[in-house]
Amino acid sequence: MGVLAADAGPRVIVALDYPRAAQAVAMAERLDPRRCRLKIGKELFTADGPEVVRTLVARGFDVFLDLKFHDIPNTVAGAVRAAAGLGVWMLNVHASGGRRMLGAAREALAGLPGRSPLLIAVTVLTSMEEAELRETGVTGGVDEQVLRLAALTLDCGLDGVVCSAREAPALRVRFGARPVLVTPGIRPAGSAPGDQRRTLTPSQAIAAGADHLVVGRPVTGAADPLAALAAIAADISHSIR
Ligand code: C5P
Repeated sequence: MGVLAADAGPRVIVALDYPRAAQAVAMAERLDPRRCRLKIGKELFTADGPEVVRTLVARGFDVFLDLKFHDIPNTVAGAVRAAAGLGVWMLNVHASGGRRMLGAAREALAGLPGRSPLLIAVTVLTSMEEAELRETGVTGGVDEQVLRLAALTLDCGLDGVVCSAREAPALRVRFGARPVLVTPGIRPAGSAPGDQRRTLTPSQAIAAGADHLVVGRPVTGAADPLAALAAIAADISHSIR
């Protein structure tokens, strides 16, 4: 996919990293499902549960449920079915759960009526550095492990991976246009990096091969979130031919 549109919908997924549902819904009210998708993660989901997901889906947003399931195959299959039942657009698991877990996650979606959510996997958390990875027994280095787990993910029939935009070019070279690549760590030119390191701008990430960009604070912290989204869309349009 890369420089071609992944689908007709918006490329930006706004991370609603709030502790409570009311704050997330208030932000969603300032956004527009035609301009962005939304990501809900572990903090909000743990605090306020599935109702906030249902609310945002009912308001027309595509929701990426970022719960990174990692457990025995039967448990992950059940969690994936439950997430699909909420009407989410995309959900994820950890690729390091292994072939049977990945297969069980995919199979859990196969039998469901209606449009299946996209199912993607986390390879190596971008917070992990070489030394930390080595402590877990992985000695080949981050890049090698990312490629290995991406290959496993795609071999198991999943739709794609979460990756840093810096990993995207190597993934495109190895796996071509098919995998959906979802990349966080995006900062529009001039915006505060916050705790992110090694960021890319939206157009750089798209040029690197990303399909969907996860953007949090540059949008949710902006005085005018829709204007921030419009600026990102304008930047991205330079990379989409
Ligand atoms: O506010 P910011 O744009 O940094 O938010 C990025 C979002 O993407 C957060 O929800 C963060 O947890 C998530 N994320 C990330 N880096 C990863 C994986 C997820 O920043 N490697």
